[in-house]
Amino acid sequence: MSVRVAVLASGGGSNLQALLDAFNEVPDAPARIALVISDRESAAALERARAMDVPAHLVPVSGRSEAEVASDTLELLERHAIGLVALAGYLRLVPAAVIRAYAGRIVNIHPALLPAFGGQGMFGARVHQAVLASGARVSGPTIHYVTEAYDEGRIIAQWPVPVLPDDTPATLAARVLLVEHRLYPLVIAALALGEVPRDSELQEASFHWRAVAAPDAAEMIHLIQPSTLH
Ligand code: GRF
Repeated sequence: MSVRVAVLASGGGSNLQALLDAFNEVPDAPARIALVISDRESAAALERARAMDVPAHLVPVSGRSEAEVASDTLELLERHAIGLVALAGYLRLVPAAVIRAYAGRIVNIHPALLPAFGGQGMFGARVHQAVLASGARVSGPTIHYVTEAYDEGRIIAQWPVPVLPDDTPATLAARVLLVEHRLYPLVIAALALGEVPRDSELQEASFHWRAVAAPDAAEMIHLIQPSTLH
């Protein structure tokens, strides 16, 4: 049986679309997007979900207490029997009660190589501006467990992407986003199949990376394997 995944998104939802395409019309997929939640009514992510018959709900955040947002969110996650939560461009801090309820089962994708270029206020173009300003030659997405602090949960996977000399924040963002669309489905599938160590186990894990060659590039996916736990 596939794991029912909820995606939380505030914006365009291209990562959501990559997950929908990877799982929702694929027989025997290990995961299925079963719910989409957004804090913004205008989020294209809601439209993308509805277009594929996935329940899509608005949970407003502005002007509401954390307890109200948590209660609405938890009610939806429970009603849809969600086993795994994936943040994909969700620009709000997830209420602590939700993180506790889904501890070890809630992940985020960030468009830079954490622990650098993360934290509060580091989203969208600002991330890529900071990477370019630093002179870094490599960037790329990070997928990590979500904790109560922005971008600080343990890292599950990263995919390095070159920074080119004439990059602007927009060109770098586009190059990273293409890789995000490939990495997120791989990691969600691995999580659904129980192939990723749980958050608490990562603390003890001796990091050892499995490299998976991308079919069309020299880039590599770095994915922590449970077999490396001693
Ligand atoms: C992505 O770059 C993701 O890493 C970041 O927000 C962006 C969302 O893009 N957290 P999209 O809405 O999935 O197109």
